[in-house]
Amino acid sequence: MSERDAPQSHDHPPTGDGTRCVHAGLPEPTPGAPFLPGPVFAAPYHLDPWQGPAASPNGYGRPDNPTRRLLEAAVGELEGGDCRVFASGQAAITGLLLAVLRAGDVVVLPADGYFPVRAFATDTLAGNGVRVLFAPTAGPYPDLDGVRLVLVETPANPGLDVVDLPALAGRAHAAGALLAVDNTTATPLGQRPLDLGADVVVASGTKALTGHSDLLLGYVATRSAELLSTVTAWRTATGSVPGAFDAWLAHRSLATLDLRLARQTANAAALARLLADRADVSGLRWPGLPEDPAYPVATRQLRRMPGVLSFDLGSADRVARFLCAARLVAAATSFGGLHTTADRRAQWGDDTAPGFVRLSCGVEDTADLVADVTAALEAAA
Ligand SMILES: Cc1ncc(COP(=O)(O)O)c(C=O)c1O
Repeated sequence: MSERDAPQSHDHPPTGDGTRCVHAGLPEPTPGAPFLPGPVFAAPYHLDPWQGPAASPNGYGRPDNPTRRLLEAAVGELEGGDCRVFASGQAAITGLLLAVLRAGDVVVLPADGYFPVRAFATDTLAGNGVRVLFAPTAGPYPDLDGVRLVLVETPANPGLDVVDLPALAGRAHAAGALLAVDNTTATPLGQRPLDLGADVVVASGTKALTGHSDLLLGYVATRSAELLSTVTAWRTATGSVPGAFDAWLAHRSLATLDLRLARQTANAAALARLLADRADVSGLRWPGLPEDPAYPVATRQLRRMPGVLSFDLGSADRVARFLCAARLVAAATSFGGLHTTADRRAQWGDDTAPGFVRLSCGVEDTADLVADVTAALEAAA
């Protein structure tokens, strides 16, 4: 095991989320140095002529980069594990699945999770001889005997169902399976899967974690030295690393995560109340609503509710009219950004109803957003 693969201590002083985000991964203050050092752009680095790569972790940019290391320290601190960042969420998730699963293994994936992960499983994993089972996020889960890995998304994208992580971790471990949790929607401030029994976290950092809709990022976090070294070796072999500038932008953006999530959650709560009272909106899901089926588990395990909600406006036509009428709701995919966006998922081939919308709350003023959504729904009626 290299020095880089050695697990670190995850004991933290009991500071608040805002403080943790502002300071996560920053080097010790040095007079004359910036708070967050700028991106280091390097493919090869100068080597020590005598010791070669043994002298420094900076030998070649694919295995390592100092800007990336600081971001990994930051995300690792927030998740409570050791982190490796990837070029995108999809690179992190497919990387974990391909690095861990062998022909003959059985994997359980969410039936209602991010569609491209399901497509990858039925195309590539099944083609590699892996047996792929699907279970709805809220269960029931199959018998886990003989299963190598269970991957869940909670809250799931786009349906926002939630699974009880400590209960599922208990079942997975009793059967000898690993539990991986996609923490994209909640972010490490909303949920700490490693504290709840998961073996590994995967996520897209493209969404709320970085929140400015200007970069792609993914990560894997774990407390297992063995998994960390498997994932690190996979990433080095496949080269699925983010560039230095994206890593730096991500770290810079992380400092405001607590503030952004606070406003996004407040906006989602206000919109959930508005949408719940409207007869022309059906199938509303937001785990923070007391009448939502996910509410009992969500309030036990989420540290804060997501800024994303989903609902049905009945037809593609009505969704288009709603989007045209709204001034503050941009038609866009992805979620978790500063700007409120809405996405009709069926247009991407997702197996959702034609009028199904995933709405991601931005950080606009709550009163403005409520007024705008109300007016747009009236116009689309
Ligand atoms: C839950 C979830 N996981 C993974 C991904 C993939 O992330 P990326 O787009 O960064 O590859 C997404 C993207 O929407 C997602 O929603």
